Amino acid sequence: MELGPQRSTLEHGSLEDLVDWRRGAISGEIFADPAIHARETEQLFPRAWLFLAHESQLRRAGDFVSTFMGADAVIVVRDGDGTIRGMLNACRHRGMPVCRVDSGNARVFTCPFHGWSYDRSGTLVNVPLLDTAYHNELDTTAWGLIPVPRVASYKGLVFATFDESAPSLLDYLGDMAWYLDSMLDRRDGGTEGLGGVHKIRMHGNWKLVAEQFAGDNYHAVFAHASAPTAWSGDDPEGAAPRFSGSMSSAGRQFAGREGHGTAGFFLSSKALTGGLRAMTDDHRLVADYYDATNDEVADRLGAERSRGPSGTAALVFPTFTYLEESSAPPPLGSAIRRGPTTSSSGVGSWSTPPRRPR
Ligand code: FES
Ligand SMILES: [Fe+2]
Repeated sequence: MELGPQRSTLEHGSLEDLVDWRRGAISGEIFADPAIHARETEQLFPRAWLFLAHESQLRRAGDFVSTFMGADAVIVVRDGDGTIRGMLNACRHRGMPVCRVDSGNARVFTCPFHGWSYDRSGTLVNVPLLDTAYHNELDTTAWGLIPVPRVASYKGLVFATFDESAPSLLDYLGDMAWYLDSMLDRRDGGTEGLGGVHKIRMHGNWKLVAEQFAGDNYHAVFAHASAPTAWSGDDPEGAAPRFSGSMSSAGRQFAGREGHGTAGFFLSSKALTGGLRAMTDDHRLVADYYDATNDEVADRLGAERSRGPSGTAALVFPTFTYLEESSAPPPLGSAIRRGPTTSSSGVGSWSTPPRRPR
């Protein structure tokens, strides 16, 4: 049901009335009320640290990714001196997007409308007919692409914010960094993005994704039971009973003041690899990998986080989610990328396996 502006719940109460975090109860209005979405557009997305890319997508000078920060299209590019920059994907002449592909390598971004060109740092470097159309009076230094003021990385993940006064990325991540490390810092080589980005258009408010990843592992024992059952049939030692046992076991739930959250099952390493071995030959290869690297990871992160890939879902508020999932290794990162609206969000995901130590 579409709510008209006159029906907005915000006219009769506050946001606090819609979210009772002590009881874990939220009103469905937060997923549907256009007034709430308008407030998020003004107050949340311009201020939060938003995920842009994995550094391995931007290895060489000129490598770029086009994505979104809230409703704003941005280009993320590694410039000639190695800095990763973010800039609005909007020509300063009449606002056309200057980059129309998802990723690639470029020396310049040339607007398809009148041909203004911008280099990798966003500087306006060519204006057709500068002499006759502008009598050489256009100050090209004043018309570069608008930069995203702050871009920072955490162990391979690139984030940015439009808010110059935002806390540092590390402060913003807070305790969530401890959990992120069980995916990002398992081995000395860090991680890399594998393959391309798998994109879907989701017909639903962006918070459906955010809230789900932040803490619902309850669904797994039921909703995901069919896959292990298909692998193992009614074998009492097979994947299905192991999966059901592990998904019913006690885990850890974390919710941070910044809005981040995660829920996961930190199984014994034997239970983790035992479950994998009960599935397919491919999963047995992954089990061998976890067994071979477990001591190394435990030395870096401690025993609990070495067993991270045993069914963890997580949200770095507001738009970066990931799964560390024993039945679908390697870990999957995804981000709500495309300008979320009240009822539609684009999601991109890719795999981030650990890299061998350098
Ligand atoms: S709109 Fe880009 S050159 Fe005119
Ligand atoms: Fe799930």
